[in-house]
Amino acid sequence: MHSVIIKKAPVRVTADFLHDGLSGTISKSLPFLPSLLLLTLISTTSARVHAQETIQFTAEQVANGEAIYKDTCQICHGNRLSNGQFGTPLRGSFFSNNWKGKSLGELVQNTYEKMPPDNVMSMSMQQYAEVISFILSRNKIEPGDTALEANMDALNQIPLPWQ
Ligand code: HEC
Repeated sequence: MHSVIIKKAPVRVTADFLHDGLSGTISKSLPFLPSLLLLTLISTTSARVHAQETIQFTAEQVANGEAIYKDTCQICHGNRLSNGQFGTPLRGSFFSNNWKGKSLGELVQNTYEKMPPDNVMSMSMQQYAEVISFILSRNKIEPGDTALEANMDALNQIPLPWQ
């Protein structure tokens, strides 16, 4: 009995030592690999999400939207978007306070369903996206290379920038 325990003890010590030695090696070298992979995944994913969530429209859309605005909206909202006699300001703090925390999709949808009041839903969604691009450009959002898509699912993912 006694001798069996004595014989087993060194084996157990060796096994424990091996086990510790092995996991020690793993914890010293391998973790860098998974955490690097994880970091890469996280940064790639957030970069992609960020791109989708940014408001993007082109200068051409702004120009088309401006033409629509002059024809259809200016009579009520004014040539400076804030000096309309019959429509609320479409720039500045009144406008941003109304729309902060909401999505670009909500703004486009709302405009599509309510504007112009006597002729709602009278243009294509593309045209509504253009006139909204023009309004956003007059709220200090710069045009870029990527067009604003008139796709409601995509627009609903894009938060308006005001806090
Ligand atoms: C007959 C006058 C009139 C015309 C034309 C008109 N609007 Fe309006 N608009 C209003 C009024 C009044 C409001 C405020 C009441 C409301 O939201 O329904 C408003 C509100 C809005 C709002 C919401 C503003 C906010 O802060 O909530 C947007 C956006 C808008 N108009 C865009 C447009 C666009 C784009 C056009 C042209 C396609 C247009 N409007 C044409 C009268 C007009």
